[in-house]
Amino acid sequence: MKKLIFYSCCIVTIVFLSKCKKAKALDMNKKEAYKPIDTLQEMITRGAYLVNTIGCDDCHSPKKMTPKGPVPDLERRFSGYSGDEPLPKINKNDIEPGKWMLMNGDLTAFVGPWGVSFASNLTPDPTGLGNWTFKNFKTALSEGKFKGIENQRMLLPPMPWQNFRKLTDSDLRAMFEYFKTVKPINNIVPSPIPLTNINDK
Ligand code: HEC
Repeated sequence: MKKLIFYSCCIVTIVFLSKCKKAKALDMNKKEAYKPIDTLQEMITRGAYLVNTIGCDDCHSPKKMTPKGPVPDLERRFSGYSGDEPLPKINKNDIEPGKWMLMNGDLTAFVGPWGVSFASNLTPDPTGLGNWTFKNFKTALSEGKFKGIENQRMLLPPMPWQNFRKLTDSDLRAMFEYFKTVKPINNIVPSPIPLTNINDK
């Protein structure tokens, strides 16, 4: 009988403890998922965190070469391919399908079967995102539309917009608010060059 009481007590305790743990886990998830981001400053902080971890710099910031390799040039952060820089000559044989895809030394111009694409200016200058609405930003990142306008062309590789489709509206909004706070840089990024016109310029 004593044994029976002992075992019953153990079972009741285990069930109780596991319920507590579940409730706590649910509570934590809830806090995580519903944490309201309400102030602009909180949005900007989250936006900076997202942009820095997702790696928009990799393509959208010109680079400085260091002994350890290229690093984003913070003076020209997010300004995209420098419109006034000549594009080095491209050897067309190198970019035949299955051979090479190329990047310029700045990692802001990309050559492949799509021709040449140039990383855009994401700073809040009018030559960048200055005149963009949040809707434009969302349409560009989640639907891959140039200028974030529905009936525009699709964005070219290697802009990985397909990866960004799952970002929530509040994350996209945070990123957009962050980009509005970076230094505006006047830089008109050239239009993409079709494969047939490579080296014409
Ligand atoms: C691997 C390189 C790469 C990465 C990483 C990347 N982009 Fe891009 N992005 C590009 C290129 C190249 C273009 C230009 C594509 C074109 O002209 O069709 C572009 C275009 C864009 C555009 C459209 C601009 C316009 O005028 O329509 C936006 C907005 C954008 N990128 C935002 C971002 C953000 C935000 C991030 C980080 C979360 C990011 N990109 C990460 C390469 C990249």
